[in-house]
Amino acid sequence: MKILITGANGMLAKSVRERLKEGNELICTDVENLDITKEDVVLKYVNETKPEYIINCAAYTAVDRAEEAGEIVEKINAIGPRNLAKAAKENNSILVHISTDYVFGGELDINEDYKEEDSKSPVTAYGITKLHGEEYIKENTDKYYIFRTAWLYGEGNNFVRTMLKLGEEKDELNVVADQHGSPTYAEDLANIIAQAIEKKIPYGIYHATNQGYITWYDFTKAIFEYAGIICNVNPVTTEQYIKMMKVTQAKRPKNSKLSKEKLLAQGIAVPEWEDALKRYLIKEGKIKQ
Ligand SMILES: NC(=O)c1ccc[n+]([C@@H]2O[C@H](COP(=O)([O-])OP(=O)(O)OC[C@H]3O[C@@H](n4cnc5c(N)ncnc54)[C@H](O)[C@@H]3O)[C@@H](O)[C@H]2O)c1
Repeated sequence: MKILITGANGMLAKSVRERLKEGNELICTDVENLDITKEDVVLKYVNETKPEYIINCAAYTAVDRAEEAGEIVEKINAIGPRNLAKAAKENNSILVHISTDYVFGGELDINEDYKEEDSKSPVTAYGITKLHGEEYIKENTDKYYIFRTAWLYGEGNNFVRTMLKLGEEKDELNVVADQHGSPTYAEDLANIIAQAIEKKIPYGIYHATNQGYITWYDFTKAIFEYAGIICNVNPVTTEQYIKMMKVTQAKRPKNSKLSKEKLLAQGIAVPEWEDALKRYLIKEGKIKQ
């Protein structure tokens, strides 16, 4: 299959490329040679290459910086997907797009999880623009998959690598314990995307994270336990963390739990977060097999 990947140098894209390289013709692009914000450039590129699939891994992902970054965030997270949807429609390509738990406000009761169609109330520039991206895709093409993911880690800077470093340097860490969600290994998300394509599941929006719900605090404790790092982890609230660290942050949803029922109903394998973390730490050389 001919597959165009945009934002191909990003964290998720690296896993997608690895997973799909066998048996497919991958056209890997990033902002230098295919800037998704430029409609005419995108249309021309897709008209010329005619991919069966377009996998959009490009995004403006710096959640805190996005609050002050102005219109570039909307351009990359909303206009970009709109351009790709138009180009996909014109060429009968299938668009695969990645969205986020941040399209929800996080105000849902903590004992519940978000279903795909639940009402959206993003509270950050990142979340608002990602929701616009979803809406533009739905308006411009019928053949699309939107996978909403969360708390991604893989090849590149991410929470796990940061915690491994801090845990080795410090005796004690304060970690937020009032945000609930599912850490997601980029390799597992890439595998979910590949399975969806291979199985030709019905088009639409799917929640796609690893299984199981925890907090950043629980996650940090597990990272240290598996990697054999001795460091005290103190649970703090988001408010306490912001005060202690003297940081300004975009608002984080307290409840980022995404229900995977719809994806599981398609027979797609979705590994547990603990299993995913162990595989990641083995790959990073932090634990032995
Ligand atoms: N990282 C997370 O925790 C997380 C959580 C939920 C959802 N997501 C979503 O998952 C997807 C992948 O995220 P990631 O963390 O791998 O991203 P990333 O930040 O690692 O990579 C994004 C890529 O997009 C490229 N890009 C930026 N502007 C572009 C443009 N105008 N045209 C073409 N390419 C451009 C960048 O150069 C980069 O290579 C994104 O859609 C993101 O919103 C990520």
